[in-house]
Amino acid sequence: MSDPLVAFDGVDKYFGETQVLRDVDLAVDEREVVVVIGPSGSGKSTLLRCVNRLETIQAGDIRLDGRSVLDTDVNEVRQRVGMVFQSFNLFPHKTALENVALAPTRVKGLPAETAEERARDLLDRVGLADQTSSYPGALSGGQQQRVAIARALAMEPTVMLFDEVTSALDPELVGEVLDVIEGLATEGMTMLLVTHEMGFAREVGDRIVLMADGRIVERTPTADFFEGPDTERGRAFLSRLL
Ligand SMILES: Nc1ncnc2c1ncn2[C@@H]1O[C@H](COP(=O)(O)OP(=O)(O)OP(=O)(O)O)[C@@H](O)[C@H]1O
Ligand SMILES: [Mg+2]
Repeated sequence: MSDPLVAFDGVDKYFGETQVLRDVDLAVDEREVVVVIGPSGSGKSTLLRCVNRLETIQAGDIRLDGRSVLDTDVNEVRQRVGMVFQSFNLFPHKTALENVALAPTRVKGLPAETAEERARDLLDRVGLADQTSSYPGALSGGQQQRVAIARALAMEPTVMLFDEVTSALDPELVGEVLDVIEGLATEGMTMLLVTHEMGFAREVGDRIVLMADGRIVERTPTADFFEGPDTERGRAFLSRLL
């Protein structure tokens, strides 16, 4: 058995006195897609943010490819862990192409031409080959989110984290973003993603992880989960959504 690509081991996280992650153990294998669901405030975003050290943890460890992220240079961690959020956070005064090419030139030191060539390929891959010169303000939310995904991929991450990336989008734009993520899953990208889109979770997820009050309360292969969750909490959560 190979090591998991991402491994949470007894992770506790507090904000001040408030504990928001409680003894979390979770292993994500290479090429696996784990979908995290759960009520608002249950700790889903915090769980993801701890992986690339946007949050500190107070106990336990998180390992990436066997090595603790706590012992790894934070810039290296963030190169290896791509993250896309609900808000796109593109640079408004840079074109789509510049947004995607920026970090590889600045952080990885790629020559501008190489970075731009790769940025073009990535924008093509997310269906935006014809928008390379557009500024974010001229793009729809769905297009901006696809640029944000291309930008994260430009660092050639080994794992991608997606936190409710379609929540801020108009309903008619959700599908085009989910299609891109589904494509990545098909290509074998390892992913940990938070979503309220249960149809999508079912389609793309290998496993469903349900959080409640900072704990993982159920973890079930996707097909089994939608047949019927193992726990009462899982059943209650699902019945509210479907
Ligand atoms: N920066 C912060 N400072 C203090 N408390 C925080 C901070 N960020 C999150 N929390 C608290 O941590 C808990 C978990 O928050 P988190 O954002 O991880 O939940 P979530 O499951 O992602 O919720 P949602 O579905 O609403 O996005 C909540 O009680 C929240 O209020
Ligand atoms: Mg959240």
